[in-house]
Amino acid sequence: MPKIEIPVGNLRLTEADKKAVLRVLDSNRLSYGPVSKRFESAFAKLHDSKFAIFTNSGTSSLQIALAALKERYQWNEGDEVIVPAVTFVATSNIVIQNNMKPVFVDVEEDTFNIDPNKIESVITDRTRAIIPVHLLGLPASMDPIMQIADRHGLRVIEDSAETMFARYKGKTVGSFGDVGCFSTYIAHYIVTGVGGLNTTSDPNLAVSLRSLMNHGRDSIYISIDDDSTNDLERFKEIINRRFRFVSLGYSYRATEMEAALGLSQLKRKDAIVRRRKEVAARYIKGLQDLREYILFQKTPLDRENVYMLFGMLTKNGEKRDIINHLETNGIETRDLMPLINQPYYVSRYGISENDYPTAKLINAGGFYIGCHQYLSNKDIDYVVESIHRFYKK
Ligand SMILES: Cc1ncc(COP(=O)(O)O)c(C=O)c1O
Repeated sequence: MPKIEIPVGNLRLTEADKKAVLRVLDSNRLSYGPVSKRFESAFAKLHDSKFAIFTNSGTSSLQIALAALKERYQWNEGDEVIVPAVTFVATSNIVIQNNMKPVFVDVEEDTFNIDPNKIESVITDRTRAIIPVHLLGLPASMDPIMQIADRHGLRVIEDSAETMFARYKGKTVGSFGDVGCFSTYIAHYIVTGVGGLNTTSDPNLAVSLRSLMNHGRDSIYISIDDDSTNDLERFKEIINRRFRFVSLGYSYRATEMEAALGLSQLKRKDAIVRRRKEVAARYIKGLQDLREYILFQKTPLDRENVYMLFGMLTKNGEKRDIINHLETNGIETRDLMPLINQPYYVSRYGISENDYPTAKLINAGGFYIGCHQYLSNKDIDYVVESIHRFYKK
């Protein structure tokens, strides 16, 4: 196999990042503590939210978000949750893992995000929530989605694993629905190895999420620091309740080391976003003349695209050939988030792609390449030139 020259994601930790982790190691405190708290509060502020909860993955954050809402509103097993027909499998897996039923809605051909015009036709008396996904760095159309949710009494969980810091009509992702869910896994904006965050401005929901990621523990006891109160009555209350479990929780905690990496990288978030936008703009400019063959994700004027990845939709059945061409030239690719055609989903739900025409087009013709801050202009020009070479053949 050729050496990968242009990876989908990359990582270059700075001396400051490494020192932040070393400070944690020197402190002898790895469990939830001061660094995690600082990371959470900085992250919440950046996402127009009152609270953030740091977990061990984006999937964990999604899973407890749905579990918390299911518990609060007493939803039944088998109740329905709307998800886009094009997304990473985790969005929909967590619905099944919460013993609920994912109901798929087709996406828009220009943004690749859930099509609000197609949501209402699948709503039934068992529909409880919508999980819009901000795919590849582009916020979904949150105004119409929130209006539909309000009209039908549905809750909203934003799957923002692929989009951090971005604004839709001036407001950041993760602050529209009941809960936002983010990922800090490899190749994301902020990389902590594994990691995820929930954002919410609802204090009761924040307490439930914190409890659910921590074995369903009584919220009086979040970390060992809670033992060090000077209030004797409170101390007795804590001792009494700190080993009580109030819901069926999970073990989804992250550590101070991951939080230190996250907090350190947040300092350069503006530079990360700026460069990702520059990379995308250079791809778009360089590939402009190939529009009869390839469509790109369009960014409507009311929102910002922070380009976690650069998605492309080939139009003439050449997806496998172009992918093979790029990969043999050292340019890494991935299929553009096929879900409804995956073996598990086809066998479990008997889905026909024909019911989701845009998802079908994307499954057949869509793929993405890297769009990260580590790509140089020379790298981008190499990709552009490689794609041109493919179409000249
Ligand atoms: C849309 C979407 N949702 C959820 C996840 C899961 O995040 P994680 O890998 O941190 O569990 C991902 C992964 O990047 C994703 O792309």
